[in-house]
Amino acid sequence: MAHDHKVLSTRAACLAALRSPALTSNPGSDQANLLFLDGQAHARLRTVVWRMIARAEPLPDAVRERVEAIVRGLGDEFDLVADFARPIAAAVAEAVLGVELPPRVLADLEAVTANLDAWFGEGGAADTAALRLAMFFARAGVLPEAAVTEEERLVTPVVLAHAAVENSRNFLALAGLRLVTERRTRDVRELVNEITPARLVYRRATEDVTLAGHAVRAGETVAIRLDAGLPFGSGPHACPGSGVALAEAEVALRALARVLRPEHRVRNVLFGSHPVFYSLESAVVTSGD
Ligand code: HEM
Repeated sequence: MAHDHKVLSTRAACLAALRSPALTSNPGSDQANLLFLDGQAHARLRTVVWRMIARAEPLPDAVRERVEAIVRGLGDEFDLVADFARPIAAAVAEAVLGVELPPRVLADLEAVTANLDAWFGEGGAADTAALRLAMFFARAGVLPEAAVTEEERLVTPVVLAHAAVENSRNFLALAGLRLVTERRTRDVRELVNEITPARLVYRRATEDVTLAGHAVRAGETVAIRLDAGLPFGSGPHACPGSGVALAEAEVALRALARVLRPEHRVRNVLFGSHPVFYSLESAVVTSGD
């Protein structure tokens, strides 16, 4: 992908960019996607999404128990992605969306890279998956709110489900890998800062602007690095699910620490290759050789 944009990497410039009204989140296409809206329209839809996320905050006992049961059910050999991170991220997303997510829906969610393809004009298979997901959530009656447009009603559950599943799955798997290899329990905030599952977000300048000393010209796209201690972003689009993400990780990692035995080893560690989403494809934890 040859993309022409400036990369901001100092924490001050990244913070300034995330909070600057001179930058838009809209890549110039989709108007109904929460991630791409600005100003009033964004604030209105974000309130709707907040109400859904509040279903899982604080983490309900039933979700906590489901997460613990998933971890207790791990056998002598298990995959940190397929058997640990994915089902846990799905359980939490189900609580937020109020609907079960069957395997084919999870597969479609993993094929959607909602906040990126629109920036680069590359949809393809991801667009087809997003369309199937929109139909699934519409049929399930997710988001019956009056305060949204018809298009927002279709797009919002897909954006929310993707945001919740993708980043949480990646974080849980990578944090689980650290637990297995380092054998010490860490503070989840420190872990998410270190891992930064979403590496970059994109914005476009609507006017000439200087961001902590970095000049950006009107029309230019900037890539904002989040690994400068901003794992949940900042400003109007800052992750509304950060509390849920940290709570689910705390329960999941504590439960994982309890089932790990001294003879457990990890093998077949395979990392994802996506430039934005830092991820594990698989990592097998086994007590045999
Ligand atoms: C460790 C896990 C997570 C990480 C690292 C993460 C990271 C982020 C980041 C960096 C953004 C900002 C995107 C931008 O500025 O363009 C974001 C937005 C968002 N996240 Fe998360 N997230 C996580 C988990 C979750 C969960 C569990 C939920 C839902 C329950 C969620 C829902 C959302 C939504 C709806 C947005 C869009 C907000 C907006 O555009 O106003 N995220 N997330």
